[in-house]
Amino acid sequence: MPHEVRAVVARSKGAPVSLETVLVPDPGPGEALVRVQACGVCHTDLHYRDGGINDDFPFLLGHEAAGVVEATGAGVTGLSEGDFVVLNWRAVCGRCRACRRGRPWYCFDTHNATQPMTLADGTVLSPALGIGAFADKTLVAAGQCTKVDPAAEPAVAGLLGCGVMAGLGAALNTGQVGRGDSVAVIGCGGVGNAAVAGARLAGATTIIGVDIDDRKLEWARGLGATHTVNGTQQDVVEAVRELTGGNGADVVIEAVGRPETYRQAFYARDLAGTVVLVGVPTPEMRIELPLLDVFGRGGALKSSWYGDCLPERDFPMLIELYRQGRLDLAAFVSERIALTGVEQAFEKMHRGEVLRSVVLL
Ligand SMILES: NC(=O)c1ccc[n+]([C@@H]2O[C@H](COP(=O)([O-])OP(=O)(O)OC[C@H]3O[C@@H](n4cnc5c(N)ncnc54)[C@H](O)[C@@H]3O)[C@@H](O)[C@H]2O)c1
Ligand SMILES: [Zn+2]
Ligand SMILES: [Zn+2]
Repeated sequence: MPHEVRAVVARSKGAPVSLETVLVPDPGPGEALVRVQACGVCHTDLHYRDGGINDDFPFLLGHEAAGVVEATGAGVTGLSEGDFVVLNWRAVCGRCRACRRGRPWYCFDTHNATQPMTLADGTVLSPALGIGAFADKTLVAAGQCTKVDPAAEPAVAGLLGCGVMAGLGAALNTGQVGRGDSVAVIGCGGVGNAAVAGARLAGATTIIGVDIDDRKLEWARGLGATHTVNGTQQDVVEAVRELTGGNGADVVIEAVGRPETYRQAFYARDLAGTVVLVGVPTPEMRIELPLLDVFGRGGALKSSWYGDCLPERDFPMLIELYRQGRLDLAAFVSERIALTGVEQAFEKMHRGEVLRSVVLL
């Protein structure tokens, strides 16, 4: 018997989201049904709503979630009813060429539920990032459930499911920030500020937060930025160079996803430094750079999918650091809202008023 639940759906490009009744099947082989407790509002949900990811409307939004396993399907091991889990959108397959080479964070064949969730009239929904957790319950592949310490508050733990993990991992995993490094983070929203926190955790000594909104920069200082730059008042490249002895930062993390900020990141890094693109561009965006600069500046230009995380390795560890008071994950929760508040949360995100609005279910 499918479960009738309330869920937030984006029906067409740019249209406001709506609360709908959605049918969630019982878990089949390899699947898990999860009762969602909390789900953060990520910029990627807005990208979906605006058609910036693809055209597979209608979307079932929400993907930064924690909850409790309600049932598991045939063949599922290591996960049972009642487990407290953070949902991840990259359940690795273990068999593709990346997995076989021992680099599962690049897995090219990540798993999602195979049965569809639908509207009441049978219309098949596309769950955002294979999750769809602005819903009382959702259906995922069992591998998308990562067990963490149930003492963690769902609103806080769920943030590891996307943006906060992406930012932390952009610094810790992709950027390989080390002790004594200088780091600049362009765009200090939920993702960028998590990169700031990750740089602090890694022992970076100079951490420069860059944004166009002073409120974001204030949060950045709270999370570990030693300096901040407002891009509307200063030349970002010049300012970062000045703060790093004239050289540029060892690692620059771009957490906006726009050509102009990528260009800043490219030129704000030191020779042989690393640029990490964690912001997600839209399909029409282009960038032109002198190829000689790409060559001559050396170093590495990387992108970071989900912070190159391995959920099973990283989520429990980060929850433990949070529980020990060494990683202020709770600082990312700006407000707790109801399922009806997602559209307003998009507006607040747009106006820069929040790091994360988190829906409690
Ligand atoms: N790579 C991944 O796995 C991954 C995961 C989650 C989110 N993302 C992407 O990361 C990006 C950020 O997400 P978020 O949830 O933090 O969004 P957000 O809206 O909270 O943050 C974006 C920040 O960028 C700032 N900004 C905008 N234009 C700027 C400019 N020209 N210069 C400096 N700062 C500028 C905004 O003021 C805001 O603080 C989005 O593109 C999102 O899709 C990527
Ligand atoms: Zn794989
Ligand atoms: Zn996200």
